[in-house]
Amino acid sequence: MRVVRFMGEDFRNFKRVEFSPHNNVNIIFGDNGSGKTSLLEALYLFGFGRSFRPGGFRPLINSQAEKFTLFIEAKSDSGDALNKFGMARYQGGDNQIRINGGGNTKLSELASYFPVQLFTPESVDVVYGGPSGRRQLIDWGVFHVEHSFFEVWSNYNKVLQHRNKLLKRNRSNYSLSQDKFWLDQLSKYGEKITLLRKQYLSNLRKYFLDTTKLFLPNVTLDVSLKLGWDQNKTFEEALTSALDSDLKYGHTTVGPHKADLTITADGVSAREYLSRGQMKVLVASLKLSQAQLLRETTGKSCIIIVDDLTSELDRENQKKFCAVLENSGSQVFLSTVSINNLTENFKERPEMFHVEQGILKRHIEK
Ligand SMILES: Nc1ncnc2c1ncn2[C@@H]1O[C@H](COP(=O)(O)OP(=O)(O)O)[C@@H](O)[C@H]1O
Ligand SMILES: [Mg+2]
Repeated sequence: MRVVRFMGEDFRNFKRVEFSPHNNVNIIFGDNGSGKTSLLEALYLFGFGRSFRPGGFRPLINSQAEKFTLFIEAKSDSGDALNKFGMARYQGGDNQIRINGGGNTKLSELASYFPVQLFTPESVDVVYGGPSGRRQLIDWGVFHVEHSFFEVWSNYNKVLQHRNKLLKRNRSNYSLSQDKFWLDQLSKYGEKITLLRKQYLSNLRKYFLDTTKLFLPNVTLDVSLKLGWDQNKTFEEALTSALDSDLKYGHTTVGPHKADLTITADGVSAREYLSRGQMKVLVASLKLSQAQLLRETTGKSCIIIVDDLTSELDRENQKKFCAVLENSGSQVFLSTVSINNLTENFKERPEMFHVEQGILKRHIEK
């Protein structure tokens, strides 16, 4: 997907913003507080439906407005067909999503058009934080590569909720025959989710190892999936063994909802072994390899959003990162406070946009 036109109204500090980005690299620059991250946030919403900053959707609406609206015209990778996407959020909570003038659409449908990869100063937290961030990272990839994933994943989570309710309510008079229905369903959907995640990760691994060689040539890295239960058992067996503790805790203690991504460096846990700086390039490599895998397996290209690049990487890694971005075949949106020294990292001059107090203008160099 490539954005050819972007329009927004009453989004954060933008009363109105409109621009036509370049196919490849776009740089958005401006002082702190001018609106760079807000603009990237607006693009990100089309891929995820929520912001990458905390606070829910209300702070996204301009403080003097009742709603924000965003429009994107985008070209698909398969041809020149122009698709139109619109989104509005109201103070009251209403949420509208439209694709090509159709009726209100589900977020999952919109997201399927917009594979977005994001790099921010916080991206590195995915390795230091809990497993849910790492599951989301894998599942983003599986979702975009494998059409059946979303339904299986939704079904699994519905069943999980039902079963957890049963465990909580009926702790004293629990009956296995009642639970059997949920256990069968859980095990069916859970095995399927796990299979898709495993396949995805084994494909991703190759790209990841190649990309990290470029950024961390002296470290041997690896990634693998932790299933969320004892991997010597089938999920069904693990559910049976966990019955006592599930009853004790009142929820399902094993399963793909507990899965994790294990990252090792020279054979030991990467988060204890690598410096924070090395970790930043590791996370960047991981995300770049996800974009590459997507492109090579489905022909779909990502929209890559990079917030505050200059504060993130040292000069040497910035150069490498920019080169990979430029050659990725993706449309890139990159924000920075200052464009000094940045443009020379690209072979072709990127398109530049300057933001000042919620006003965006194309920057033409004199
Ligand atoms: N809902 C809102 N209404 C009006 N202004 C807002 C709203 N939310 C944030 N802002 C302001 O928008 C400005 C731009 O923020 P941000 O995009 O983070 O800037 P940058 O990334 O360029 O440093 C900030 O000054 C912030 O106070
Ligand atoms: Mg910012």
